[in-house]
Amino acid sequence: MAMGTARVVFDRWSDRYAHRIAGVRTSAVRDLFAAASRPDMISLSGGMPDVSKVPSAAVAQAAHDAMLHEGTQALQYGSSEGRVQTRTLVAELMAEIGVRLSADDVVITAGAQQALDLLAKAFLDPGDLIITEGPTYVGALQAFSAYEPDIRCVQMDAEGMRMDLLEAELKRVGPRGAKFIYTIPNFQNPAGVTMSPDRRRRLLELAREYDIPVVEDDPYGRLRFDGGHMKPLRSLDDDVIYLGTFSKIFAPGLRLGWITAPKPILAKVLLVKQAADLCGSNFAQVTAERYFLGTKWRKTLQNLTATYAERRDAMIAALDEHFPPEARWVKPDGGFFVWVELPPYVDCASMLAEAVEHGVTFVPGDGCFPDGRGRNCMRLAFCYAQPEAIEEGIRRLAEVIEDRLELYRAFIAAGAIVEEGAA
Ligand SMILES: Cc1ncc(COP(=O)(O)O)c(C=O)c1O
Repeated sequence: MAMGTARVVFDRWSDRYAHRIAGVRTSAVRDLFAAASRPDMISLSGGMPDVSKVPSAAVAQAAHDAMLHEGTQALQYGSSEGRVQTRTLVAELMAEIGVRLSADDVVITAGAQQALDLLAKAFLDPGDLIITEGPTYVGALQAFSAYEPDIRCVQMDAEGMRMDLLEAELKRVGPRGAKFIYTIPNFQNPAGVTMSPDRRRRLLELAREYDIPVVEDDPYGRLRFDGGHMKPLRSLDDDVIYLGTFSKIFAPGLRLGWITAPKPILAKVLLVKQAADLCGSNFAQVTAERYFLGTKWRKTLQNLTATYAERRDAMIAALDEHFPPEARWVKPDGGFFVWVELPPYVDCASMLAEAVEHGVTFVPGDGCFPDGRGRNCMRLAFCYAQPEAIEEGIRRLAEVIEDRLELYRAFIAAGAIVEEGAA
């Protein structure tokens, strides 16, 4: 379809769908993929890992060995919790970040995304309260919204979720007043910030005091560029529900992630997973097991991390150079994203079409809140484009922003808008 051609499809089943689907918004990121495929387009929108850095020969070898040595199992249905060998591999990876588990504490999922959906299905009735960071991961909002919860967001600063605001929210909802608190402590998607060790401890104290489970989503923890490793919440408290994924340390195409949680919760997750898909892909699991044999994957992960660090630097340098002084961001210590806050009168969602015309895409911030906040914010992904493209993309975006700011300044000069405090 040509860019800008609107096509309205009449849906004659529109009165048949369940109520829960009405609250699920389509992800602007996914909608943008079509536009982002134009050859001259610079995508700063999608959080796609650079899989070109994953050696295809090593993956081919792993898949080949999987078939050669375990072909009949790889092609067969498997157990709902996942292969014991894959769960053992997960336990080993978790031990490296300070979490001691056995294979029995792990359920393999189709990416962390499925774990989010399964948790929501297991925990949420319509109207149930949950607490998330604001902004938070669009895919989590999508997964949760389908079960019609009341989502309360807690604002963040450079140290992650603000504990004073969380405490105030918990006082409002009371003990056991929310079904869970969802957090992405490392290099948050979309804000890029990392929760400080003090805040991690405080979060767990508050969660205990109010008897509310914490869901820790940690896809980016191993992609650290600066500073030392920070202990996952799960390493400090066995009651934390932890979601991990192979998507960023290997490849999202295999759709492999995992969840670890207290035994009764894990049993419920397993139950809903059986209904969802019977079992995950054995073929993907055997291939991943083979890929993670030996140490080559560590070198690949090191290269990937170095690549992302270089791109982060390119993005920060370009923001410093091209973005207006009114813009604010926090330099991330790892992960994929920079979150930029513009003055409140800039509407990033309405700027997107113009940005696409200029050949650059980003994610407007309002999709990262359940309540329409964040319109003056944007998520910029540095994981996928090359440093030169990032520089050019930021330059193009700065032009679009400058147009908006100029318009605003003209309105002020004409007296059509009065600035706050100036009245
Ligand atoms: C915070 C967060 N959680 C979960 C996911 C889902 O990852 P996957 O399903 O590929 O494991 C993502 C993907 O970008 C993410 O950023």
